[in-house]
Amino acid sequence: MPRVLRLSSLPEWPHPFDAAAELDWSDPAISRRLLAEHLDQSHDGASRRETEVDRHVRRLRRLLPDPPAAVLDAGCGPGLYAVRLAELGYRVDGVDVGPAVIRHARGRARRAGVAGSARFRVADLRSLPVSPRYDAILLIYYILENLPRRSQVAALRRLGRLLRPGGRLIAELRLRPDQLPGRISAWEVASSSLLGDGRQLLLSDSVYDRARNLFILREIAVFEGGEVAVQQTTSRLTAYREVPGLFAAAGLRVARTHDGWTPHPGSPLCDSLLVVAEATSGPSGRRAAAPRPRPSG
Ligand SMILES: C[S@@+](CC[C@H](N)C(=O)[O-])C[C@H]1O[C@@H](n2cnc3c(N)ncnc32)[C@H](O)[C@@H]1O
Repeated sequence: MPRVLRLSSLPEWPHPFDAAAELDWSDPAISRRLLAEHLDQSHDGASRRETEVDRHVRRLRRLLPDPPAAVLDAGCGPGLYAVRLAELGYRVDGVDVGPAVIRHARGRARRAGVAGSARFRVADLRSLPVSPRYDAILLIYYILENLPRRSQVAALRRLGRLLRPGGRLIAELRLRPDQLPGRISAWEVASSSLLGDGRQLLLSDSVYDRARNLFILREIAVFEGGEVAVQQTTSRLTAYREVPGLFAAAGLRVARTHDGWTPHPGSPLCDSLLVVAEATSGPSGRRAAAPRPRPSG
């Protein structure tokens, strides 16, 4: 549960990756509340709306090897992508730290009749065992951003080891904050939030540290009884010029980048990129076979 704190201990400017405040995706109560946000079709806060996911899956079908390739959806949330891919014939493993989203993903796979080919488990993508291995790994909706740079490299390196020779990692990367740089503050009276149920004054602010390319979104709830709770998510964004180096540091080679979910090439002007990267060597140090590029881009 979010820690209840004294107002005097609340920093005026949030500290990046503050362990005392950073959203704990693995907390059962948070995961339960987040699940409702993932499934809410009125916004794209935690997962995209279903129509958007459908569009993305059509795009992924062009970027992935053909079914029945083995795919790992790392940070799969409620399995919106994984179950659709299993319906297309892929063998998909979904991992996420959130227990409620994984329970939902399993139920979703059962209802879709693909429980045998879409399997889900609670696991941290930073500490997955090096087997089984996959033809493709997905990091969808800004999974890497929630880690400091050094942990991003470590996570990518670990995931890269799970790729079969010729396999590819497809990662969505955010290049700029989804709000204007500067400080934005807002408030509302809510009956519940990620911070808890019950009437509360919900204050939010977002700050962008241009020098370190960090974006922090923070929520502070003041409950009717006077308790104060806080949660924030820090995003370490990636400048376009950093992209090849980030993946190279993890033993991966960027094969191409796209402007978000479009087929157009990525550029420094994009808000987000879909990066297609390949392992530069197999687990024994052998050079990986180069994948055949798809003409469609
Ligand atoms: C913004 S959601 C995206 C979910 C899903 N990819 C989608 O687009 O529907 C981010 C997800 O990453 C998960 N997550 C965050 N850190 C993780 C970690 N270290 N290991 C596994 N999952 C993680 C969260 O629990 C959450 O479900």
